[in-house]
Amino acid sequence: MVNVDLQAVLEQIADEVGALPGRGHSADYIPALAGVDPHRFGMAFADLDGRVHGVGEWQVPFSAQSITKVFTLALVLAKDGTGLWESVGREPSGNPFNSLVQLEYENGIPRNPFINAGALVVTDRLQSLTGDAGEDLLDFLRAESGNPDLGFDLEVAASETAHGDRNAALAHFMASYGNIRQPVPTLLAHYFRQCSIEMSCADLALAAGFLARHGLRADGSRLLTRSEAKQINAVMMTCGTYDAAGEFAYRVGLPGKSGVGGGIVAVVPGRGTLCVWSPGLDERGNSVAGVAALDRFTTLTGLSVF
Ligand code: DON
Repeated sequence: MVNVDLQAVLEQIADEVGALPGRGHSADYIPALAGVDPHRFGMAFADLDGRVHGVGEWQVPFSAQSITKVFTLALVLAKDGTGLWESVGREPSGNPFNSLVQLEYENGIPRNPFINAGALVVTDRLQSLTGDAGEDLLDFLRAESGNPDLGFDLEVAASETAHGDRNAALAHFMASYGNIRQPVPTLLAHYFRQCSIEMSCADLALAAGFLARHGLRADGSRLLTRSEAKQINAVMMTCGTYDAAGEFAYRVGLPGKSGVGGGIVAVVPGRGTLCVWSPGLDERGNSVAGVAALDRFTTLTGLSVF
């Protein structure tokens, strides 16, 4: 579809989503996120030139959580090439994002870079490559979003650290297979800081723009080859919403990455990027209103990869 009144579409979606009966529950396994009202809602679309349309709370920062896994993956591939794929697979896991069960059968190699085990390997490599994975990620996100104020929410990071037994188990288990290079406490500290980054829908849509621009950053320089950008988009499509990735592809028809803060980033290659935020989650950890809003967006505009 060539001419779409994006602002009108976003406003229609906000009205429709406002009337949704069930909105899910905010993440309660990270206590600092548990109190967020599941009815909050914002959505933004950023075009290839960085122009942003938004509706609702599209400029309100929230906890990016697993959405940050897209950016750490891109940074590791950009700095180190395809060697990463010897340590992390590219298949959907069909299991919850924090599941341990496949790791033993598969020799400590996580199924994909978006489940927690895979993201821990990616952050481990980014830490080895940069000496400060969190700051490297923040620098990138600030540059791409044009927002110099982005930062960690240390209360959320501390809350996750205090309840981080599952991620610690994943990291130690992979370390026993030699698939983690940093000391596990160092890795976990970087991973929890990474997940705690606060960004708005506008920030996240802009920061993911390189995936719609086939690998080009906001300043026109190249982060990834066209082929690498395609590959990340493909892994987002197949693995970005975990054991709901099939349903997400069916409903939305775009590469997408969710986070338990209630955000979802989706990419329309060659056209732009979307970010939606609503903290009420379904049982698989994806925003209920967020998926519904993206479903309506691609239905109303035809802006899908299919
Ligand atoms: O490691 C965790 O469990 C969280 N910091 C991130 C999980 C997450 O966002 C899953 N996404 N839907």
